Amino acid sequence: MPLAVWPVAQTSPQYQRTGHYLPASFQHPGKMVPELARRIVKTYSRPGDLVVDPMCGIGTTVVEAAALGRRGIGIELEPRWAELATANLDAILPEAARPLGEVRTGDALQLESVIAEHAGKVDLVATSPPYACEVGTTDKSAWFAGRSLCDRQTLNYSEDRANLGHLRDEAYLDAMAKVYLACRAVLRPGGVMVTVTKNLRRQGRCFDLAAATVRLAHQAGFRYQQHVIAVLAGIKDSHLVARPSFWQLNQTRKARARGWPAHLVVHEDVLVFEKGGAGA
Ligand SMILES: C[S@@+](CC[C@H](N)C(=O)[O-])C[C@H]1O[C@@H](n2cnc3c(N)ncnc32)[C@H](O)[C@@H]1O
Repeated sequence: MPLAVWPVAQTSPQYQRTGHYLPASFQHPGKMVPELARRIVKTYSRPGDLVVDPMCGIGTTVVEAAALGRRGIGIELEPRWAELATANLDAILPEAARPLGEVRTGDALQLESVIAEHAGKVDLVATSPPYACEVGTTDKSAWFAGRSLCDRQTLNYSEDRANLGHLRDEAYLDAMAKVYLACRAVLRPGGVMVTVTKNLRRQGRCFDLAAATVRLAHQAGFRYQQHVIAVLAGIKDSHLVARPSFWQLNQTRKARARGWPAHLVVHEDVLVFEKGGAGA
């Protein structure tokens, strides 16, 4: 299995977004680092290709794909994030590139019907699904005033139970199996799916989401082509400079206080799969 290591946080994710992405984007609790989205698009597609993200959040992959001359379509279940993703496209892309990017409100489980006119023609699916762990929009001032760090309404992306962010264990794996089948169906023969995941601890135990994702993609008929480690820390001389969010720091400290040997996780797994078939 070819392994690569990409340093994607030589500058912090906040710095990478500032002045480009709208300030409201900071409220989304699970955004992709822009440099990571750029590297995925550059490495696994060509100008003019069609790139689809079935769970696009604030639209990072779509923005970066369109900025690199690809056509990008993002699908997002939550109208709130879908509107923000469209607003990011409006705000960031130069006029000539704006028609290249589009966001649709829809369900990744219904991907084939949401982008029916592109079925079988997509060159690259680039996505980062929910990680089957708790996330939420942090409110530091509330936390310092003794209230909870994040409002319940923002937990797991929204209160809508149809959001895959609420699923755990078998229910999560079953749903993601369906999403990867749908991704395979919309790709052209030889098309590529890149999925970004992160291994996290729940109740003190590591959940190997990367391995589970490889299994699901394999079952969906994909060939596992490459594993990339995206380093979410700055590399300075021989040191890694972690760039954790307040939420990640807080979760790690809580775990340690319970006696769990937790560390900040400073990488994500970029898993690359090919559809195979004629034209591969
Ligand atoms: C890890 S985030 C993706 C973030 C994105 N890469 C970005 O940079 O903003 C996962 C996203 O999947 C969305 N989502 C969850 N269930 C979904 C579904 N069934 N269909 C489409 N989107 C879904 C969530 O609302 C969330 O925005």
